[in-house]
Amino acid sequence: MSFDRTSFRDHIEFLCREWERVLNEHQFDAALVPAGSNSNYFADDQSPPFRPNPHFARWVPEPLTENAVLLIRPGVMPKLFFYQPDDFWYVPPQVPAWADGVFDVAVYRDTEIQIKDIAATTHALTNIAYVGPDTELAGNLAITTDDLGPLIDQLDYGRSFKTPFEITNMKGATAIGVRGHLAAHRAFSSGASEFDIHMAYLEASKQTESELPYPNIIALNEHAGTLHYQHYDRDTPEHVHSFLIDAGGKCNGYHSDITRTYSATPGDDFDSLINALDEKQQALISDISLGLSYLDLHERMHHDIAELLVAFEFVTCSPEAAFNQRLTDAFFPHGLGHLLGLQTHDVGSRLTATQAETQDPSGRFPTLRLARQIEANQVFTVEPGIYFIPMLIDSVENPSDINRERFQAFVPFGGIRIEDNILATQDGHENLTRPVFEAALAQ
Ligand code: GLY
Ligand code: MN
Ligand code: MN
Repeated sequence: MSFDRTSFRDHIEFLCREWERVLNEHQFDAALVPAGSNSNYFADDQSPPFRPNPHFARWVPEPLTENAVLLIRPGVMPKLFFYQPDDFWYVPPQVPAWADGVFDVAVYRDTEIQIKDIAATTHALTNIAYVGPDTELAGNLAITTDDLGPLIDQLDYGRSFKTPFEITNMKGATAIGVRGHLAAHRAFSSGASEFDIHMAYLEASKQTESELPYPNIIALNEHAGTLHYQHYDRDTPEHVHSFLIDAGGKCNGYHSDITRTYSATPGDDFDSLINALDEKQQALISDISLGLSYLDLHERMHHDIAELLVAFEFVTCSPEAAFNQRLTDAFFPHGLGHLLGLQTHDVGSRLTATQAETQDPSGRFPTLRLARQIEANQVFTVEPGIYFIPMLIDSVENPSDINRERFQAFVPFGGIRIEDNILATQDGHENLTRPVFEAALAQ
């Protein structure tokens, strides 16, 4: 995985300025940012894979940094207290070569000495912001973790604006994901099971399961109607109708989040519906520009989907009525998208709970994760879907305009989701996903 040291240094310079501004605004004179540590499952000596605190990972984009702690002080080179125990059971964390000259690094084999050193270095600081999960460490250092909400909200908010270093990594994550997607599609076309498609994805994208940004969603037939379907059936169903794959890649900690849906029978009605939704998705993306409200885009997609529900005879009323009666909510129950970065669902999608309420005054779309205006250098997904989920149709208040028979005929297909990752730019947007598929398919 390539790592551009020059662009990383620029990224760190940007972060130094950004954190200095935020710390000043909230009247802190430093920030202590632990990577975090893993804990074992209850009554067990095994743990889930380690994931660093994203605030730490933004400074130190290295996956294996358990128990490392970063100290940020305005005007001073960031200090990295790196924990590297002697261990013959596991390979201990390694200081990345690119940390050289960027961080003042001290390596510790013993936690007690590490904590003592952190205490000695922070001793003269009066107001330290503790930005991370290990409250025990904060307790050991006698640093308060009260009243950090507004500072952390602001840091999360700022994480939505990607630096050139971050954008390069997100493009890297896309390339990894697309390689997996193409292999998965080939496996599907040759009649593979969900499990075998999953394995083809891992192999082609050269990711182990625990390195994935999120668990692959590999859904044949009606399984596509479970939004985060999490199983991998070992057998191919007797009749295959459809395939939905939602799977991404990770590059230096940054995620891609990509979904494609295929019909098993090109040219059938389901295939036409995929193409029709794809057109709506592309048309909406082509209009993305700075200053638009993401909520408005989400609402526009509901209107687009209402048109498709009429055109494909899932409802017998007008598109306006389908929208007003909230029939679209039963077919498209999730948000149009979310911020993307070091987390698949980067937080910072809403300013604060109160502001979010004013951004979605009707309260109609509680599952929409992103309620901000589009600003340059944000990366977010655009992922409309149409699903055939009996539970949702059964709960529609006034179902008389639903064509039950037509709906029922599509239940075996599960649903459709099409998800691209979009970078907002000064002059509009860049689709990070499409051109990579197109270039690979053109070869
Ligand atoms: N892969 C999860 C999502 O699309 O939000
Ligand atoms: Mn997504
Ligand atoms: Mn996804």
